[in-house]
Amino acid sequence: MKTLYSEQELHDGVARMAREIEAAYEGRQLTIVGVLTGSVVVVADLIRHIDQPMRVGVIQASSYRGATTTRGDLVINSELMLDISGRDVLLVDDIFDTGHTLEKVVAKLADFNPNSVASAVLLRKEGRQEAEYEPDFVGFTIPDEFVVGYGLDYEDMYRNLPFLGALEEQDLKEHASQAAESTVG
Ligand code: IMP
Ligand code: MG
Repeated sequence: MKTLYSEQELHDGVARMAREIEAAYEGRQLTIVGVLTGSVVVVADLIRHIDQPMRVGVIQASSYRGATTTRGDLVINSELMLDISGRDVLLVDDIFDTGHTLEKVVAKLADFNPNSVASAVLLRKEGRQEAEYEPDFVGFTIPDEFVVGYGLDYEDMYRNLPFLGALEEQDLKEHASQAAESTVG
């Protein structure tokens, strides 16, 4: 697997984004909402770099997809989310690809009457955007490659890697044979 960003580079990028967020929200109380599941690692690191009072919650958005498959129907589950009415909400997601996920989650949040909704993404893939929406804060702009680690998955694996890697042909083969071995029955 090819390393795109090391643990240290990710740390520095997240810290940089935190400084921008602090500057934008000076004197206001933030409500951070992480989009499950891919954002869990970046949320955990980002919030510890933001030195101001905040509330933290989650929302779930899932669509079936793999490295090569196209986007499935997006399902948004807001049952786990905290009350955001009248709040300044900052949505945090792992990656902005076509943009459909974030666009739909932002639209969904409007139902709960927040004071404002902005978004921060660790990664933005270059040349892939289909939605009108653009995130307000971006950690890194990356080429159009399928990446894993630091929260990002391929078929629910690799989220625990401390670095960001790009999957190569050989990785996909190994993944397929390991997936076959670990399935009992
Ligand atoms: P979008 O709706 O096309 O912007 O896709 C956003 C979602 O697709 C992200 O929250 C990820 O779950 C997933 N995704 C897109 N590209 C990648 C990738 O390179 N690696 C892992 N997940 C990805
Ligand atoms: Mg995701």
